[in-house]
Amino acid sequence: MLITTLADLHQQVAAWKAKGESIGLVPTMGALHAGHLSLVHAARAECDRVIVTIFVNPTQFNSAQDLASYPRTEAADAALLAPLGVDVIFAPAPDQVYPAGFATQITVSGVADPLEGALRPGHFAGVATVVAKLFGMTQADRAYFGQKDWQQLQVVHRMVADLNMAVQVIGCDTLREADGLAMSSRNARLSAQARAAAPALYAAMTAVAASVTAGGQADNALKAARKALLDAGFERVEYIALHDGETMQPSTDLSRPLRLLAAAWLGGVRLIDNVAVTPAP
Ligand code: PAJ
Repeated sequence: MLITTLADLHQQVAAWKAKGESIGLVPTMGALHAGHLSLVHAARAECDRVIVTIFVNPTQFNSAQDLASYPRTEAADAALLAPLGVDVIFAPAPDQVYPAGFATQITVSGVADPLEGALRPGHFAGVATVVAKLFGMTQADRAYFGQKDWQQLQVVHRMVADLNMAVQVIGCDTLREADGLAMSSRNARLSAQARAAAPALYAAMTAVAASVTAGGQADNALKAARKALLDAGFERVEYIALHDGETMQPSTDLSRPLRLLAAAWLGGVRLIDNVAVTPAP
């Protein structure tokens, strides 16, 4: 069932809550692909009711042009979700989410500061605020996020802990194409030539992870990865760096969950990815 107003959503959620049914939430901005659908599968397996939200959240975009060019594929999204047993697709208009007079913002510091936070000022405040609102609107018991956006996932974890939100946040594995490229709505914008070069990102990242876990010098491995990406045709590497997987601060401490994260431009498209860096047992 497609719901577009808060009033209709509240009515549906109240009916489920009255029956004691659990609610799983999958927040998305639409332009759905198999990565999103894997979150829906996880929610369907664990919750009585599943709500997928489709909302291109204006407050998390850094430029009006990026917001305007974000793909909107509502009919195709509905067709992809139809066979999956989703109870509600909630696709509100912006004024349902941000009515006149809206004045509150959630700013998560620390975890949201480096990497994407440094390069996209205000992005994570936009994400945290809309995610908090979606939790409130849907009264979700569980919410499913992709590890593809690792830092976003950590920001949401931090917010939920700090604000005592009654929702369990579940981070699901990154779904990849057969050649390793992480699935993303942005991949469709890659030319054939760029698409052929794109797997170099994951390849370079797994090489760094293998080298570091084997005791290699992180700086050397990261330098080699940057070179491999430029050689493969990437225009620019914004970052490729090792950070603590929870606090998101720079780290090479293998005794903690360590994460390698990268953002790089290829054929005018900004790709991001991340992998775990775990020492061999
Ligand atoms: P969006 O980019 O549409 O992504 C929705 C969810 O799908 C996120 O949790 C994201 O991490 C997950 N996802 C994307 N690609 C994936 C992949 N290849 N494998 C597994 N999961 C993947 O992230 C957002 O929207 C927004 O910031 C949102 C949380 C909806 C707030 O507006």
